[in-house]
Parts: sequence; C-alpha cells; structure tokens
Amino acid sequence: MGRAVIYETFGGPEVLELREVPEPHAGPGEVRVRVTAAGLNPMDWSIASRPEAAARFGITVPSGFGSDLAGVIDEVGDGATGFAVGDRVYGGALGRAVADFVVVKPAVDALWHTPEGISDEVASTLPVAGLTAAAALAAIGLRPGDTVLIGGAAGGVGVFAVQLARLAGATVIGTASPGTFEFLRQLGAEPLAYGPGLANRVRALAPGGVTAATDLFGTETAEAALALGVAPARISTVAAGPNPPGGVRATGAIDAATDVPEQITDAILAGKLTVPIAAAFPVEKIRDAVTLQAGRHVHGKVVVTL
Ligand SMILES: NC(=O)c1ccc[n+]([C@@H]2O[C@H](COP(=O)([O-])OP(=O)(O)OC[C@H]3O[C@@H](n4cnc5c(N)ncnc54)[C@H](OP(=O)(O)O)[C@@H]3O)[C@@H](O)[C@H]2O)c1
Repeated sequence: MGRAVIYETFGGPEVLELREVPEPHAGPGEVRVRVTAAGLNPMDWSIASRPEAAARFGITVPSGFGSDLAGVIDEVGDGATGFAVGDRVYGGALGRAVADFVVVKPAVDALWHTPEGISDEVASTLPVAGLTAAAALAAIGLRPGDTVLIGGAAGGVGVFAVQLARLAGATVIGTASPGTFEFLRQLGAEPLAYGPGLANRVRALAPGGVTAATDLFGTETAEAALALGVAPARISTVAAGPNPPGGVRATGAIDAATDVPEQITDAILAGKLTVPIAAAFPVEKIRDAVTLQAGRHVHGKVVVTL
C-alpha cells in the first residue's frame, strides 16, 4: 500500500483526502517513481475545483492530485529504456503526482534525471513553472538589451521568468504588490505595482520604454504593453487562454524547447538561478499547501513532501 491524495468530487482544498491505496506497479514501457516531493501549480487546484478545467485535461473524478514530482525510480517495466532502479528523477504525472508511488511512461510523460547537487524539492518545482517561463520568453524572442515587463513576476512562473530574462541579458521590470518589491529586487527585477494605471507607472520608471512583455497573471500586463506601443509579436501570455487580446502570443509549458530542463538545472548548479521555495508542507498538510497556493500571493513555489 502507499499513500495518495485523492478527490471524489470537485471542490476546494476540503475535497482532498490522503488515502492508503494499493501500490501501482510499472507495466511495459513504464517506470515507477517513489515520490519524495511534489511541486504545486495553479492548474492543480484549478482542475480539482472546476469540472470544465478538468475536462480540458481529460480528468474525471475520482482522481489523484498534482502534476509535478521528483523522487527515485524503484521499478522499471519491460522495455522501458533510459532509466534504472535507483535513478533520481523529476517530471510530470498529470492528475496523480502527489502520491508515494507514481507510474510514469517516459516515452509519453516528461521525465528527466535529477542532476547531482539539485534537491528533490527544487527538482519538483521545475517542470510546469520552469518550462512555462522559458516558453513565455522564447515566444517573444527575448534578447540582450531588451527591457521586458513581466506581469505577476513573483509567482511560481515569475521567479523563473525574471531570472531567465536577466540571464538572457534583458533588463526586467516585474509587477507585484508593494510588500513583494524587495523580493523581486533580490531576483534582479525592478518592481512595479500591478493594478490600474500600470502603463503610466511603466512610463515613469522606464522613460526609454519597454521592448517586450510577458503576462503571467490575466491580461493587465499585456494590455499595458500594447498601450505602450510594444508590438503584439513581442508580448506573450500564459494565463489568458488561447485567444488573448490584441493578437499577443499565447503560450505555455507545452511549447518549451526540449533543452530547457537542462538549461535550468545547469543555471542552478552554476549558481546563476535560484528557486525560492515559499513553503514546504508534509503531505498530511495537503489542504494547507493548496490553500496557501490558491491564495495567489505566493512568492516562488509551494512544495509537498512525501
Ligand atoms: N499555460 C501554461 O502552460 C501555464 C503553466 C503554468 C502556469 N500557468 C498560469 O500562469 C499563471 C501564473 O502561474 P504561477 O504558478 O506563477 O501562479 P502563482 O504562483 O499563484 O502566482 C502568484 C503571484 O501572483 C501575483 N499576483 C497576485 N495578484 C496579481 C494581480 N492581480 N496581478 C499580477 N500579479 C498578481 C502575486 O504577487 P503578490 O504576492 O505581490 O500580490 C504572486 O506572487 C497562472 O494563471 C497559471 O494557471 C499557465
């Protein structure tokens, strides 16, 4: 038996139950991960609370919970290649990541080796947020000399986007609430308050203008960038659905280049990128972890440990 977070009806954190369930085993082409850490993302509680969001991912109740995991391979099925028992790994297992044992099909699900020197907690934060941040910047062709406006810069995706943009040679202006400004400065961004009048505040802070933007929270930043004269092709969104306003580019983790995980882990190992972990909760506290994350004022990532 192993533990798994399960929900039988859609709803808020109160529907999440930690249950003893039969251990799954690796079938042909599959590996089993003994999970030690699971990074949370807004999509996790969005899927668990909204049937229409779940349907978009093909998820029905009863369901497991979570999408990002890290741990150690403890079973390898026939024909599964590239992974061996004892390998440290991180990756994606949509709708089942927060469990002691998760079966993953490496040919279908994302699964990478965790480099030595990177903890499971940090590795478990990388798949959705790291790939999304990289895709958001790639979509706008960020280059040295750019001044990029990043909306929602202190969240799980934002902490990667800010640092990857700095590493790409851009100056970064990031939106947050005033209490978060020092956190953003530490990451290398010039902070600016979100909310009405954003375009005017950007003009005052950057008289030379911004050359690109990425919106990680709704459409406010994308609209401000359009008002500031940034070309739609140099504005991306990850949280505004497939048809954002003004012809700006909608993107997400699925669009990330295949070498992004290695780029990010190399940057972490080189001391050029840090992953702020806002809080780590033991799995028994899953409801507290989800409540914190769903509040939308987290700085960095929330992790659940098993
Ligand atoms: N398309 C994809 O593949 C994909 C993948 C990952 C995420 N996403 C989406 O991207 C969005 C960001 O994800 P995330 O993990 O970064 O979320 P998150 O960690 O929950 O974001 C929290 C951050 O949002 C900021 N924030 C709160 N209200 C805001 C507002 N009105 N305007 C701007 N920022 C605000 C907060 O700053 P303060 O604390 O300072 O208020 C906080 O730092 C989510 O909507 C998520 O669903 C999409």
